[in-house]
Amino acid sequence: MWCSISSTCWTRKASTLWPTSSATNLDGLIFSFSSQNLGSYILGQVNNAGASGVIIDEDGLKAMNIDPASWLSGKVANLVQGVVKHSYESSQLCLNTNYYGCKRVTEALLPLLQLSTSGARIVNVSSLRSELRRIPSEKTRKELGDLDTLTEEKIDGVIKRFLHDVKEDSLEANGWSIMLPPYSVSKASLNAYTRVLAKKYPNMCINCVHPGYVNTDLNWHTGTMTTEEGARGPVMLALLPEGSPTGCYFDQTEIAEF
Ligand SMILES: NC(=O)c1ccc[n+]([C@@H]2O[C@H](COP(=O)([O-])OP(=O)(O)OC[C@H]3O[C@@H](n4cnc5c(N)ncnc54)[C@H](OP(=O)(O)O)[C@@H]3O)[C@@H](O)[C@H]2O)c1
Repeated sequence: MWCSISSTCWTRKASTLWPTSSATNLDGLIFSFSSQNLGSYILGQVNNAGASGVIIDEDGLKAMNIDPASWLSGKVANLVQGVVKHSYESSQLCLNTNYYGCKRVTEALLPLLQLSTSGARIVNVSSLRSELRRIPSEKTRKELGDLDTLTEEKIDGVIKRFLHDVKEDSLEANGWSIMLPPYSVSKASLNAYTRVLAKKYPNMCINCVHPGYVNTDLNWHTGTMTTEEGARGPVMLALLPEGSPTGCYFDQTEIAEF
């Protein structure tokens, strides 16, 4: 099997998806690969652009010297409130980039992806912040987690309610995660959209993935993994062989619970 990037779309730094690259972040790309044995031609898309949704006092955060395990578990959520803040505008920007932007690009590219001879691959780069168990509200967990009743309209409704609660400064009272709130909601919405899309296009492999805690601008270079290590999960999903899982969430290279 050989693999090549056939064309790029909003490709700033797209090459960083490939493990041989030494660049420092990941963006989005559309790619193709062929199986010489089967003569098939597979098209795929990786949605990678991301915004943190917060306004940060970087020096303040660094001075707190938070260990990676505490950061990842979210145990420090209360502790960092003074240095990691969000606004209505930063929340909107985050949701527009991480959720609506990804959705718009996917919708625009679907006609092209459908030309794939054996089912396209779509990879949505998500985050462990998306995991449903991290959302305190049972109602929201159920809304985003029940695949039988999940629709794009329902996801829009959750986002609308979130933005309303941002405006009212009532996130904690209404059961939203207070660890990177806009980012968490944007990625939980992206995962839900991944599942809706996978159900709609069963011949494709459409998955979402947490790349790991990677040293990039997004986390103010607190991440512990290299970009090459972080690219492993997305690249693996982009190159899945036929008959592979679809509508799943991966923690790096392993299937995990939404
Ligand atoms: N780093 C981690 O530990 C980690 C963990 C979990 C998930 N992720 C996810 O991994 C993906 C890649 O992030 P990264 O860590 O590589 O962060 P990064 O270095 O900050 O890269 C994010 C990229 O997204 C682009 N971007 C932001 N807003 C955009 C917009 N409106 N339109 C188009 N592009 C936009 C940025 O472009 P500019 O540079 O031009 O602004 C930047 O190249 C993101 O989806 C992120 O949520 C990262």
